[in-house]
Amino acid sequence: MTEHDPRLKPDLAAEAAETPPGLTARQLSELEFHRSHAAARAEVIDLPVSTDIITSSERRPWNAYWSLYDRIMAAGPAGKRVLIPGCGFGDDAIRLAMLGAEVSTFDLSPESVEIARERARRAGQAGIDFRVMPAESMADYSADHFDLVVFVDILHHVDIAATMAEVVRVMQPGGTIIGDELYTHSLLQRIRTSAPVERIAYPLLQRFIYDGETPYITPDENKIDEAEFAIVRAALRDARIDFFGLAEGRLFPSRPRWSWAARIDRALMDTAPEPLAARLGSRVLFSGTVAK
Ligand SMILES: C[S@@+](CC[C@H](N)C(=O)[O-])C[C@H]1O[C@@H](n2cnc3c(N)ncnc32)[C@H](O)[C@@H]1O
Repeated sequence: MTEHDPRLKPDLAAEAAETPPGLTARQLSELEFHRSHAAARAEVIDLPVSTDIITSSERRPWNAYWSLYDRIMAAGPAGKRVLIPGCGFGDDAIRLAMLGAEVSTFDLSPESVEIARERARRAGQAGIDFRVMPAESMADYSADHFDLVVFVDILHHVDIAATMAEVVRVMQPGGTIIGDELYTHSLLQRIRTSAPVERIAYPLLQRFIYDGETPYITPDENKIDEAEFAIVRAALRDARIDFFGLAEGRLFPSRPRWSWAARIDRALMDTAPEPLAARLGSRVLFSGTVAK
């Protein structure tokens, strides 16, 4: 797609002049959003990456992100070739490098990659391999290369079928996939987008959940539903799947002072049979061996 493509909005067409050719309209829109996002969050470059999630002996099994790291550390990342698609500001890439992994990572946004690269340098992890490219076409990587792929909040921004096909291509047979992603079953999504929720309940809850801050939601993101998650699952052998967030992030904020509620939430989700949990959860934690 070029800057002359009539399908592009005029502002995106101007942007396309400075961006790699061949991106889809969705990728260009994501790129434009993350350009402003990186500019607005420029101070993040001075924020050191928090390491308690990899160093603390007190674990938080009720939290999906902490549980993700439990699985990553159980997989023994030291010395492994690890890929992190969509690095954002680099936190996970830097932590995996601190755990001794040989990390490769990329993002669609060159601005985010620049911030991540500088944070890695300051964290003493200049050996991380950073690239700028779309997840749907990982042209810089050869086949059968990676031992471990870690997804964090990236799949709702990408074409899942194309991205998973690329992940399977670049992974070694027997490699491990681990991810923690936003998720909503289509039934709940219908309720979420119904008129009363959209007009009344959501605006009220949004203020409470985000504490008055503007939520980080791009125009093109699309929470993965059960059909899209089936594509991810098809790439996993011996899959271990857990759903989190019945009410956390929906009815109460995901913040430390609400950890008592998050524990109850997790206990409820843990006792629910998987088909029910898959209808109720707002996050999915998954791991398994790549099916290839
Ligand atoms: C919600 S952020 C998550 C970043 C990071 N994984 C984290 O958890 O902090 C989504 C990231 O995906 C990137 N992105 C969006 N579309 C992409 C695509 N098609 N290929 C690669 N990265 C993409 C954005 O630039 C952004 O950095």
